[in-house]
Parts: sequence; C-alpha cells; structure tokens
Amino acid sequence: MSVSVQRLLRGLHPDGRPVDITEHLHLHGPLPTPLDRASLLDAVEQSALRGRGGAGFPTAAKLRAVAGGRGQKIVVANGVEGEPPSGKDRVLLRYVPHLVLDGVEVAAHAIGADQAIVAVSTAAASELAVLRTALRERSRGGRVEITVKAVPDAFVAGEETALINALSGGPPRPTATPPRPFERGLDGRPTLVQNVETLAQLALISRRGPAWFREIGTRDEPGSALVTLSGAVRVPGVYEVPLGTPLHDLVAEAGGATQPVRSVLTGGYFGTWLDSDTALACSLSEASLGAAGAALGARAIVVLPEGSCALAEVARVSRFLADESAGQCGPCVHGLDAIAHAVDSLSLAASSDGDVRIRRWLDRVEGRGGCRHPDGAAKFIRSALDVFADEVAVHAHGVRCSGRDLRLLPVRVRQYRREAA
Ligand SMILES: Cc1cc2nc3c(=O)[nH]c(=O)nc-3n(C[C@H](O)[C@H](O)[C@H](O)COP(=O)(O)O)c2cc1C
Ligand code: SF4
Repeated sequence: MSVSVQRLLRGLHPDGRPVDITEHLHLHGPLPTPLDRASLLDAVEQSALRGRGGAGFPTAAKLRAVAGGRGQKIVVANGVEGEPPSGKDRVLLRYVPHLVLDGVEVAAHAIGADQAIVAVSTAAASELAVLRTALRERSRGGRVEITVKAVPDAFVAGEETALINALSGGPPRPTATPPRPFERGLDGRPTLVQNVETLAQLALISRRGPAWFREIGTRDEPGSALVTLSGAVRVPGVYEVPLGTPLHDLVAEAGGATQPVRSVLTGGYFGTWLDSDTALACSLSEASLGAAGAALGARAIVVLPEGSCALAEVARVSRFLADESAGQCGPCVHGLDAIAHAVDSLSLAASSDGDVRIRRWLDRVEGRGGCRHPDGAAKFIRSALDVFADEVAVHAHGVRCSGRDLRLLPVRVRQYRREAA
C-alpha cells in the first residue's frame, strides 16, 4: 500500500510543467477572504505546525513574535536549500509555485507585513524563472508586494542571518545574534524567515483548517512533510508522506533498496548515520529518530548499501563542509579543514592513528562557531566514526576495505528524478 499523500504535491503535471494560477485555483480554491488575523494565528497554533527548514521551531510562536515586533514587518521565504542531498524546496518552487506564494501572502497577513521576498539560490535558475512567471500570473489583486531574489549558492546561505546579510547586498555569512531576525532583521525590520515548505503548509491550513491538517501524522508531529530520499533505492526522489511514516515503508515506496543496506544518513549533512537495523526500525518523526540519537532535520535521507566505501563518502562530504565554512570563525575555518584532511587520510588508509585525532579535533570545534555549521559537521562526522567503526579499524591498519566509492552523497550535483511522478 502506498504511503505517499498528495497535499502539497497535488496536481503535479507528469511533463514537469508548473501548475499555473488557473489550475492552482481549481485544485485548491481561493484563499479565504477576508483573512481574520486572530483566527488565522489560532488556526496555526492548533495545527501545531513546525518549521520545515530543519530546526522545527513552532510556526505560530514565530508568527506571533514577529507580529509583536515594533516597526514595519517583512516576510522572507527561505527557498535557498543549500543542502546538496535535499531537493524538496526546489520541487515546490518549480512545480507548485502558487502554493508557496499563497503561503507568503498568508504569513504576511498574519504578521501585518505588506512586503515579502522569496529568496532562491542563484543555482536554481529554472525555479527563479517559474516564480517570476507565477508572480506575473497573480499580479492582479495581490495583497502583498512580493519580489524574488537570488542569493549566492552556498551551504550556509540558507541560515537565516546569512540570508538576511545576502539579501542586504553583503556576503552570505551568518552574524552573531542577538538580535534575532524576528526582532531586527532586513533593514532593521522585524523579519519573518520561514522555509518555503512551511509557507506552503500555511497556505493549506488557512484554507482547510487545523483539524484537517492533523488528520495525518502523529499527535505531537502532525501533518505531511516532504522527504528527499536518495542513495541505494530504486526510485530516488522527493516524497510527500505523513510524519510518523515508518522509514521502512518509505524505502518500499521508493521501490525498495537496490542492495542490502549498510547504513542510513538521516537529517542531511548536519545529520546522523544510523546502522541499517536501527534506521529501518525508526519512523519519520523527531520523537522516533531522537530516541535513536538522530534527527529529521530538513528530511534529506540517504541509503548507503553494503559494498560501498562509507569512509570515502564521509571524506568527500567532510571536505565539502569544510570548504563551505563562511570563513569567519577560527575553529570552523581551521578545525573543519584539519578534520577533513584527517578523514581523507583515513579513507585512503594513509593514517595509522585511526579516529583518535579526529575525535579530539571534533571536541574542539563543537560549540565554537558563530553559527551551527561546525556543530552540524561534527555531528555528521562523529556519527560516521561510530557507525563505521569496523571500517575505521581496517583503514587504520593501512588496508582499504573492499567497498567501492559509489559517490552516492552529492556535494554539488543534486539528484531527484521522481519529483513530477
Ligand atoms: C548552516 C545552516 C543552513 C541552513 N540552511 C537552510 C536552508 O537552506 N533553508 C531553510 O529553510 N532553512 C535553513 N536553515 C534554517 C534557517 O536558519 C531557519 O531556521 C529557517 O529558514 C526557518 O524556517 P522554518 O521555521 O520555516 O523552518 C539553515 C540553518 C543553518 C544553521
Ligand atoms: S561557524 Fe563557520 S559558517 Fe558559522 S559563522 Fe563561523 S565561519 Fe561562518
């Protein structure tokens, strides 16, 4: 039985054409008018919607915090998606742009903003073009002035303070906070930074209400979510499933594993490796993955098969994360670089001290950056050393294991083939 649902991804065209405004209104109907602000905020609260950008912050609390700020408010829709194994935000922007733009309007109304920016990576040229066309389609009667802006293609560019810097014309570098964007963000204004999937969910909640939203998912983590599943599965791609779906069922939905599974990376490149038995016994919720020491994050999941060299995969991503440091904090710049070198030596079986030095350095970078970048990278590498301890021991003896580098973990190339199915 299929576990996929079609809420956000309803009505996709098999040929990959975006859903235009007429089709969108036919599928979802118009936004309710007039939108009453207090009941809208209550509906979001009752829905228990949490941010879909990775941190899972309660959306109603964020809306209320920005709404309560002083001065003219602004919405920033975060569609940057700097994480290479994730494709969900691009799928929304490319195929159902009006759902995201509706969400922007709803959020702007909820906080009392009359201006909004949809931020997308410069690498997402087709999504930018689709969004601009969609904005032209809805130019009549729009309640909020919405513009689309491209920001540099960088892993940290989607971090909210880095995004605000980039939108202000600076480099995409995080700034030490406070003040947080909700207090003083773009142009010093209270700024709502919200992931585009969160906004698309808002667009549905404003139409159908919180009870409908909670019909699927778990009691504490209701609703559907987009998951980008890649690696050793027959049909990698972006799936919409209820939160709480067993990971085993999601893999089955993707046609099953192509080979016996060695391990699963959950939560993307700030995430955690789990051995296959543990991972496949988990479900897609923070509660379930948290109990196994992992997290859902932005729901990028990679299945690694037996016979692949996990350490080669980890070395490549470690180098990517080191190179993606925004270059401002010593422990992040120098620490991650040294760690990436050491992981590379280990993967080449050219280092005899195993993981001892790497673990010592990981201790030294954690909690020492201006943003969570070094912490996220350290979590990814540390969990790899734990789960692939057998491989580490073999490599430490100067012998490479028999696994091949299948290059399943992308560092720049994104792979999602099923998005329009
Ligand atoms: C290094 C780093 C990169 C991030 N990249 C993204 C991103 O690409 N897209 C995104 O929506 N949030 C990203 N975030 C989270 C944002 O800072 C922010 O929490 C999020 O956009 C808020 O939206 P939400 O509450 O709807 O999840 C990133 C955070 C960090 C620390
Ligand atoms: S920790 Fe790294 S990515 Fe974060 S602000 Fe410092 S240098 Fe930039």
